[in-house]
Amino acid sequence: MCGIVGYVGHRQACPIIIKGLHRLEYRGYDSAGVAIVDQSGEIGLYKCKGKVSDLERFLDGKATESTIGIGHTRWATHGAPNDANAHPHFSSSGRLALIHNGIIENFRVLKDALKSHGYEFRSSTDSEVLVNLIEYIQDTNGCSLEEAVRMALRQVVGAYAIAVIERGVSDRIIAARESSPMAIGIGEGEYFLSSDASSIIDYTHNFVYLNDGEVAVIEKGKPLQIKNLSGEMSHVDIQKLELSISQLEKGGYPHFMLKEIHEQPDTIVDCIRGRVNPDTKEVILSGVLDNQDKFLKAGRIIFVACGTSWHASLIGEHLIENLCRIPVEVEYASEFRYRNPIIRKDDVVIAVSQSGETADTLAAVEIARREGAFVYGICNVIGSSIARATASGTYIHVGPEIGVASTKAFTGQVTVMAMLALVIGKLRGTIEEEKYHKVAQALLDLPDTLRKALDCSKNLENFAKIFTYAHNFIYLGRGYNYPTALEGALKLKEISYIHAEGLPAAEMKHGPIALIDAEMPTVVIATLDRTYEKTVSNIEEIKARGGKIIAVISQGDTQLRKRADYCIEVPSTEECLMPIVSIIPLQLLAYYVATCKGRNVDQPRNLAKSVTVE
Ligand code: M6R
Repeated sequence: MCGIVGYVGHRQACPIIIKGLHRLEYRGYDSAGVAIVDQSGEIGLYKCKGKVSDLERFLDGKATESTIGIGHTRWATHGAPNDANAHPHFSSSGRLALIHNGIIENFRVLKDALKSHGYEFRSSTDSEVLVNLIEYIQDTNGCSLEEAVRMALRQVVGAYAIAVIERGVSDRIIAARESSPMAIGIGEGEYFLSSDASSIIDYTHNFVYLNDGEVAVIEKGKPLQIKNLSGEMSHVDIQKLELSISQLEKGGYPHFMLKEIHEQPDTIVDCIRGRVNPDTKEVILSGVLDNQDKFLKAGRIIFVACGTSWHASLIGEHLIENLCRIPVEVEYASEFRYRNPIIRKDDVVIAVSQSGETADTLAAVEIARREGAFVYGICNVIGSSIARATASGTYIHVGPEIGVASTKAFTGQVTVMAMLALVIGKLRGTIEEEKYHKVAQALLDLPDTLRKALDCSKNLENFAKIFTYAHNFIYLGRGYNYPTALEGALKLKEISYIHAEGLPAAEMKHGPIALIDAEMPTVVIATLDRTYEKTVSNIEEIKARGGKIIAVISQGDTQLRKRADYCIEVPSTEECLMPIVSIIPLQLLAYYVATCKGRNVDQPRNLAKSVTVE
């Protein structure tokens, strides 16, 4: 879970690398570094603990002129975040420098073997083992760096995206990937490489995405060469990425997270564009329609996902069971992959992932594929590993999500799931026409509904201050809004570091109500739906025990306005789309509580946006 960048060409490499690393900080930000081949052919290596801005200060005044370089921003897996463990890593002799995103699982065995050959290690990382293994192979076989990389990788178990440079070679980078992303940007006589193509979009829109088991020879002024680990040539498939730079900037907001929350009315427009016809209210998802038979004969749908995407999948379960009458299971990808799951040939497995790179979700996809299920992807990042590993799918098209806390991806995922349920429900004849058209119209109205929801939440900034004292929160919801409660709690804990627990409202009396006292705020999603009266009773039970209630209520609800301690109104929509609306104030509540506490909401401690390690 790190970010890597590289450049070889005719421009100065360092500024390109630093800019790319800034954009990749969402992948990790505990230390950073760069390596270049300087004018005399020596490798200049600069790295330090801290963020990319710390690295920039560290580089100030250093001689970094070079037209080749590699850079890294780290999220520690093996070894504490400190200067020594920061990447790039030198090989023992200093002839090679390497950056690595991933985990070398058998690094201990390899390290012991290298130690027996006299190798010494400066860091406690698995990555340093890999660069020394490459050097050892090159020295003992007298082969090229490219060949040594291939031979070394054949011995490695684990995940990696790596880039290696060599002393005295100022025009060539060797890169490789296995289960960690790597995009190569193609310019005019120059190449860029990155964990995420969007980070280098200023320079090119043409990308090659390395596949697992591929090694690239990236040489200035020469055609890109890609081979497999046995040295056989692979096809170089250049793809266009349409993305604007403004999508990667804060646009006047203090944080990406706040920008992304406010973008949601527009990202929903992008998500439904060309998919819901405003005149006929027909919903078209080509990924489903092209594979109708799979969905028509599906005996079961299994969602696999992690974190926020898992919460969105729980809403998908309600949508599909209600509108398509297909049994649904929602699995944590990390559990699914290790418990020998029963997968049938008529199962449809839907992998949900914003980044499309989450290691556990990708592994779950592989298992489902292997067992013969039809695997569908709901991803945001175009060309990501999960998007490519699935048989078909639907992009949520919400644009780059940079804040570590997922916001617009959640609403995009639920929107896609609603469209999916409408399309499948219609195919299977399980949804009445009137209902179908009502939900389709509500989808078309969603951007306006979200604008109103953002408007209703204007006072949250002042209101959030009241709750910065709390050490614990409970979030409650029922039905479609139980997953919303889970998601609201996750938002608060990940960016404010306040403990928060999401629960189905009726579960309170089975234990958690014992936690209630005047110090424990309870956030209840209590909009006007079929369980409204029951939720009101749950609120009364908490109030009777001295608890404080923050209620998310439907506009105009006078009953709860009188009963709850604090109310946030939201506009109404179809019940099955309500989570997309009711999550808005919860995202903002978490954001403002966290900023009042002085937290770095875009880069919360211990987290990274894209969890590419298991
Ligand atoms: O990229 P993915 O959707 O696969 O990521 C899954 C989780 O890591 C992610 O949703 C995480 O929980 C977010 N930080 C939540 O805000």
